[in-house]
Amino acid sequence: MQATSRRCRWASIPGPNMREAASMYGTAVAIFLVILVAALQGSVPPESPFPYHIPLDPEGTLELSWNVSYVQEDVHFQLLVRGLKAGVLFGMSDRGELENADLVVLWTDGGRSYFADAWSDQKGRVHLDNHQDYQLLQAQGTPDGLVLLFKRPFATCDPKDYLIEDGTVHLVYGILEEPFQSLEAINISSLHTGLQRVQLLKPEVPTPAVPTDTRTMEIRAPDVLIPSEETTYWCYITELPQGFPRHHIVMYEPIVTEGNEALVHHMEVFQCTATFESFPHFSGPCDSKMKPQRLSYCRHVLAAWALGAKAFYYPEEAGLAFGGPGSSRYLRLEVHYHNPLKIPGRRDSSGIRLYYTATLRRFDAGIMELGLVYTPVMAIPPQETAFVLTGYCTDKCTQLH
Ligand SMILES: *[C@@H]1O[C@H](CO)[C@@H](O)[C@H](O)[C@H]1NC(C)=O
Ligand SMILES: *[C@@H]1O[C@H](CO)[C@@H](O)[C@H](O)[C@H]1NC(C)=O
Repeated sequence: MQATSRRCRWASIPGPNMREAASMYGTAVAIFLVILVAALQGSVPPESPFPYHIPLDPEGTLELSWNVSYVQEDVHFQLLVRGLKAGVLFGMSDRGELENADLVVLWTDGGRSYFADAWSDQKGRVHLDNHQDYQLLQAQGTPDGLVLLFKRPFATCDPKDYLIEDGTVHLVYGILEEPFQSLEAINISSLHTGLQRVQLLKPEVPTPAVPTDTRTMEIRAPDVLIPSEETTYWCYITELPQGFPRHHIVMYEPIVTEGNEALVHHMEVFQCTATFESFPHFSGPCDSKMKPQRLSYCRHVLAAWALGAKAFYYPEEAGLAFGGPGSSRYLRLEVHYHNPLKIPGRRDSSGIRLYYTATLRRFDAGIMELGLVYTPVMAIPPQETAFVLTGYCTDKCTQLH
């Protein structure tokens, strides 16, 4: 599946004329975007062929959708640019910096618009790439904004290009507010820039069927006013109906309030301990002084979602038990709002939709929380039959009290 075996498609291009050829190509990809945009304004976008989707910036100006072909070994990107000004930079770099990045740039000199494969050096200067590996397929004006469709192979063999591999990719962006005479004239340090982390190559795991007697339940924030703080963990206590019997959760998916896609960073649903008969209702920041002490007894994870993830399915033979005797009716929803621009006045009802069945499956699924830190070392690749993770605790941990 990895791209390293791929033959360099342009290895046969003779060396000396390459720069010249590339700059000619650079001219050739100049397109009259403005005209195209005007002509297509108002056309309805067809149903999306892109299973993956993520906002790039906290204001939701840039939205990326993509799909992956493991056969062609390429990625199709669709970038939605809301309120386009003079252009946009998009790309990848090792740690999310705008220097030493592999970029595509859409820019205008005030008259014509251009699209090119570019790279930035360690001083952040932008250069046209010798080989144009990002291929622009379409630029279309829609009611939402300009939609750019382009594709790129996982591996391009161009040393200036990023190698798209499994694992986290740092996507970078920059917004051009005003025209630039040339690509080289773009001054990255004067732009509004940022990064987003994403797993571009998603494992292709078959989706198990959901039983016909499946029912759904939404655990959602109660129209919360998102604080204009960089980080808020919002806690909300809700409860299952009286006498709710034991069920198996077979799947769950995120519900993210429209417009807040870039602010809702992750969400978890916890079940409270059965030790207490009841829990006080609460809706507020998890670190609030008003938060009832008892809420720290709601820690059994029922569902967890983070930005970029899709629905989660249990295998057909297992489900996560909830409800019934011996378990608490009380649930705690925790939503992490990431609001670095401290945008005020956003209301939110995001949460998680649980799909559950009364027909209990053969196995109870469990969620194991390991370790204290999140590191790539702890990411279990799909379809493993075994995975060894070794941890050590100090003797204090194993002492019996
Ligand atoms: C990805 O999207 C492109 C553009 O819409 C489409 O032509 C292509 O078939 C899609 N590929 C996959 C693997 O879904
Ligand atoms: C680039 O922009 C920064 C910040 O706006 C400015 O300090 C710097 O002088 C600019 N560099 C050039 C070469 O224009």
